[in-house]
Amino acid sequence: MPATILVGAQWGDEGKGRVADWLAAQSDVVARYAGGDNAGHTVFVNDQLYKLHLVPSGILHPGVVCVLGNGMVINPVNLVREIDELSALGVEVGPERLLLSTRAHIITPVHIALDAAAEAARGAGAIGTTLRGIGPAYLDKTARQGIRAGEMADSDGFSAALAAAFERANIALAAQGAAPVDTAASISACLAAAERLRPYLCDTSEYLNRQLKAGARVLCEGAQGTFLDIDHGDYPYVTSSSPTAGGALTGLGIGPLAVERVIGVAKCYSTRVGAGPMPTELDGPVADRLRGTGENFWDEYGTTTGRPRRCGWFDAVAVRYAARLNGFTGLFLTKLDILSGFDSVKIATAYEVDGHLLETPPAARGELARARPVYETLPGWSGDLSHTRGVDELPEEARAYIERIAELVETPIMAVSVGPARDQLVSAGATV
Ligand code: IMP
Repeated sequence: MPATILVGAQWGDEGKGRVADWLAAQSDVVARYAGGDNAGHTVFVNDQLYKLHLVPSGILHPGVVCVLGNGMVINPVNLVREIDELSALGVEVGPERLLLSTRAHIITPVHIALDAAAEAARGAGAIGTTLRGIGPAYLDKTARQGIRAGEMADSDGFSAALAAAFERANIALAAQGAAPVDTAASISACLAAAERLRPYLCDTSEYLNRQLKAGARVLCEGAQGTFLDIDHGDYPYVTSSSPTAGGALTGLGIGPLAVERVIGVAKCYSTRVGAGPMPTELDGPVADRLRGTGENFWDEYGTTTGRPRRCGWFDAVAVRYAARLNGFTGLFLTKLDILSGFDSVKIATAYEVDGHLLETPPAARGELARARPVYETLPGWSGDLSHTRGVDELPEEARAYIERIAELVETPIMAVSVGPARDQLVSAGATV
């Protein structure tokens, strides 16, 4: 069976980690294709919480091989730390289970310093990046001056490449009035990490194509979300990679005909971290209730940065756009349980921009910020959904809510999550 692509349909944080974990049970290989440790995928298995930033969620399934694809940017020091943390929890993360593309690009401390300096320079127009050095690393890649993971195989060459990159970056940092990075200490940390990662290096495109040819089931695990896509998100409030379905092909080096399914993941409401427009954003008691207090790991606070997330009603205009753009064959909805207890719930079905009614997000810069949601109000429901496993057991209003979403986003719903644990799922029937 060929490849399945998993894509976030909103602004990231849709719950892709738990869906990837679910799909990994039916996969032989799980491969991440874009982004870096700006991602924070949370998976809760047997009372243990795993927070994954780089390693694909498939690692929690023995027998599944995980791939860090060429489209990613990898901080080698943080990857080693994540491998060690997972190993300490008893997860097997040896080089026979985790393959790192020789073509992925490297994030170093200078990228992190440049990220912070660029954000400071943007002032009120800051993007609210995760400060993981993602943008500057992709900038070096496209400027054809990045360092690829494969260069870690040769210590002397890697050290020389780092020294040149640090010298160049420190000049740029000084020009922005920012402190330089300690070159000697940083290079020695990168070299130590490279030493550890050498056995993991692999031509992952060659590996994946060989596996696909042999009939392996490959899950392409997206990070971030459609509205953070460098091309299709609301630029410039985006990340610097392609989290959408097209990014999976270039980010892994596989052909389009290998893809059988494209599964979208959307939360039953909307959240966003960082700056940029969010048409259904709310302020006040509804948003506070959706966000939670931060006491529970599923509350709406960033896994990577701890920042409170902006919250609002479900935006069907946004998710319909994501469905079209990615070609979703099915949609997985998460966190239906959080909506329990509202008298009524709302869905944005269109935007009003400058007196015009739009059914798709506007592309012109600044227009999305002026978009006012046009809401449809549905009756709410109450009760604890966390033990519900069949769609027929859901309150009638909750069923009507997910059916309306399917209609508005023109995509069949595969399943709905009603809690963070692996089995807290309601199958919605669609097999895609
Ligand atoms: P960067 O990827 O760190 O450059 O951040 C760019 C934008 O993407 C910021 O608004 C971040 O908050 C957002 N972002 C990056 N990664 C994630 C993620 O995994 N979840 C949610 N938002 C993210």
